[in-house]
Amino acid sequence: MRRNKMKLLVCSTLLLAIANLGEAKTSSPPPKVVCYYNSASHTRDGQGKYSLPDLEAAMPYCTHVMYGYAAIDEKFKKLIPLNENFDVTRQHYKQVVGLRERLNNKYTKPKFMLSVGGGADVSGEDDEKNIQYRDLLESSALRTTFINSAYEMVKKYGFEGIDLAWEFPETKAKKVRSKIGSFFHSLKTKVLGPSVIDKKAEEHREQFIALVRELKRTFAMDNLLVSITVLPNVNSTVYYDPKLLAPHVDFVNLMAYDFYTPQRNPEEADYTSPIFELVDRRFDENVDFQVNYWLRNGAPSHKIILGIPTFGRAWKMNEDSNKNGIPPLTVDGSAEQGPKR
Ligand SMILES: *[C@@H]1O[C@H](CO)[C@@H](O)[C@H](O)[C@H]1NC(C)=O
Repeated sequence: MRRNKMKLLVCSTLLLAIANLGEAKTSSPPPKVVCYYNSASHTRDGQGKYSLPDLEAAMPYCTHVMYGYAAIDEKFKKLIPLNENFDVTRQHYKQVVGLRERLNNKYTKPKFMLSVGGGADVSGEDDEKNIQYRDLLESSALRTTFINSAYEMVKKYGFEGIDLAWEFPETKAKKVRSKIGSFFHSLKTKVLGPSVIDKKAEEHREQFIALVRELKRTFAMDNLLVSITVLPNVNSTVYYDPKLLAPHVDFVNLMAYDFYTPQRNPEEADYTSPIFELVDRRFDENVDFQVNYWLRNGAPSHKIILGIPTFGRAWKMNEDSNKNGIPPLTVDGSAEQGPKR
């Protein structure tokens, strides 16, 4: 529900590999185009419906296909299908992976990977939201349980790797404040510091490195791929250590979009995926910062995949919206969904 945007996502999001600037041609592997397939999109009506034949048509353009999404069991912290009935009983995992055999030899066959989390596996609320993603990290025994279950599932259904689209807590959306409100807020921030979303963030950052390292060790024995996906509004600076993670992953997908959405920011419409920093916006809510954070902190460029949005966001304007149309604009929440048929 929270990820309403999925309804607007008509085709699977394409992620394009950024050019391997400044690296010797011989040392860098061929560019990647990583495509995400949201298996829940088959439930939509009309033009928004996206199912197997649509996915098949996209195959010539993808080097990697992420099956979205698998989940983490709240109790045992094992990897499980998000939709057991559809994914397993109705054999959608098998059908998707089976596309590999249907592709003849016309194209380079994409690698099929299973993606975990992705914002689709939602449980709990407030501080407890998606807590299994943090609980699991905190115990070495639980990390092993998770890794073993992931390995079994990937092998069982014929995937060629796993993608950790880890559901770390999201940053708080920017509040729209009056001038007086802003004054008190900055006073409060000065006295109390910025509001903390995860008190154990430092530990989780370290433990995530341990998880990825241990996972890759197990997966590498079978030549299985491991990637991570940084979800929109998960603060990379807080949770991701590029230098220590990069050696243990085949690539990193940066979903550098949805900094502003009608759900996060119902009172103010703004650019959802600005390329460079804009005045009066947060310094890290733009594509440039996200990519450079990884490059500057020791991730090789050939492992960085930049996620681009292939959908639009719509807010409802009102009398107070600035008629020049230049964001940010005062608005009345999300616009109505487009026609379904
Ligand atoms: C992300 O974390 C850094 C470091 O704590 C902080 O300076 C920055 O404001 C955070 N970004 C957001 C959008 O909350």
